[in-house]
Amino acid sequence: MTAAIQRRLDIPEPQKAEQTELRPDLNRAHVRFIGLGKTYNGQQGPVAALHGIDLAIQRGEVFGIIGRSGAGKSSLIRTINRLEQPSTGRVLIDQVDIGDFDEDRLVALRRRIGMIFQHFNLMSAKTVWQNVELPLKVAGVPKDKREKKVRELLELVGLQEKHKAYPAQLSGGQKQRVGIARALVHDPEILLCDEATSALDPETTQSILGLLREINQRLGLTIVLITHEMAVIRDICDRVVVLEHGRVVEQGPVWEVFGNPQHEVSKTLLAPLQHALPEELQSRLRAQPQSAEAAVVLRLQFTGSATDEPDLAALFAALGGRVRLLQGGVERIQGHALGQLLLAVAGSALGAEELRQRAGNWAQQVEVLGYVV
Ligand SMILES: Nc1ncnc2c1ncn2[C@@H]1O[C@H](COP(=O)(O)OP(=O)(O)OP(=O)(O)O)[C@@H](O)[C@H]1O
Ligand SMILES: [Mg+2]
Repeated sequence: MTAAIQRRLDIPEPQKAEQTELRPDLNRAHVRFIGLGKTYNGQQGPVAALHGIDLAIQRGEVFGIIGRSGAGKSSLIRTINRLEQPSTGRVLIDQVDIGDFDEDRLVALRRRIGMIFQHFNLMSAKTVWQNVELPLKVAGVPKDKREKKVRELLELVGLQEKHKAYPAQLSGGQKQRVGIARALVHDPEILLCDEATSALDPETTQSILGLLREINQRLGLTIVLITHEMAVIRDICDRVVVLEHGRVVEQGPVWEVFGNPQHEVSKTLLAPLQHALPEELQSRLRAQPQSAEAAVVLRLQFTGSATDEPDLAALFAALGGRVRLLQGGVERIQGHALGQLLLAVAGSALGAEELRQRAGNWAQQVEVLGYVV
C-alpha cells in the first residue's frame, strides 16, 4: 500500500468546517501532527515507536518534548522534516500535508527547517567558515551572497574571530554555535534541536540557551526542542509535551506542567527539580507518629500568578499548633510563582489527613511525608 493510500484510509479529516471554527488555534498551527504513528521494522520484528499523536505547535513558540529514553521523542521531531516517514497519520507544516512531497519539495522543505544535534555533526576537515558555507554551496548560492550570509551568521553566534579554526580546535559550546549558524543558512522558519545541549557543561548550556532564545525572539523562529535536562525546558520553553511509550501523556504551558504535573512520568522526570529533603531530616522521618509530640511533615507545592504567593500567616493559623518552616522557596516561570514549602506541624488539634486537606486551600499539591519528633 502506498503511503498516500494509507493516509487516505487511516486518518481522520482534520479540517471540517465546525472544527475550524471551534479551534482556530489548530488552523494557525505552524506544525501539526494528526493521528501520527510510526512503526520501525526492527531486527526482532516491528517496533511501534509512536501512536496516535495529535499536537499543534504554534508559530514563534519554543516547544519542548520530554520523556524517558525510548519514549519516541527523536522519532517525532524527525517527522517534521521527514527524516522519518510516518507509518500512519499526517504532519502539516503551515496547513500543508508534507506526506506527498516528492524529492524536490522535500529539499525545499528541509531548507525551511534547520536542525542541530547533540554531537554537532561538523565536518572535521573543514574550517568553521567552510562548515557554515557548505549548505549554501550545495544549494548553488553565488559566492558574494554566500560570503555575506556566512559573515552575518558567524557574527550572530559570536564566532567571527574563529572563522579559520577547525572543529577540533573549538570547545563544545563553540562547535554547537557553528552547528546553529549552519542550521540557519537558509533563513529557516523552524529550528529542531535534538539534545543540542546534552554534551555541554551547565555554563555553556546557559550561553547556548541564551543564543536560542535570541534567535527565537529576533528572527521569530519556531523552535522544537528535545532535552533530558528539565532546567532547559524551564528556562526556555513556552509549552511542553510529555511522551511515554510513543503517546502524549501530558502537555501544556511550562509553568502549569512544572508547577502541577499530573502524570506519573512527568512527576518522575521533574523530581530532580524539587528540593530534596535534607538528609538529616530524612533520617528522622517516620511513617507513623512515635509519640504524642511528633510533628507532621507536609510538603506543599503551589503555582500562582506572580503576585499570588501563599499568605503564610493565614496558612499557619489554619493548620494550628506550632508550625516550623523546614525548607522552602519560590521560583518564577513565565510570570508565575512556583513554590514549595516543607512544614513541620506539632501540637495541632488536626490529624495528618485534616492538615493535608486544610493546606490544600493554599497549595495545588499537599503530601504528608511522615512524622518527626
Ligand atoms: N531505526 C530504528 N529501527 C528500529 N527501532 C527504532 C529505530 N529508531 C528508533 N527505534 C525505536 O523506537 C523507539 C523510540 O525511539 P526514539 O529514538 O524516538 O526515542 P527517544 O525518546 O528519542 O529516546 P532517547 O531519549 O534515548 O533519545 C525506541 O524503542 C527505539 O528503540
Ligand atoms: Mg532521542
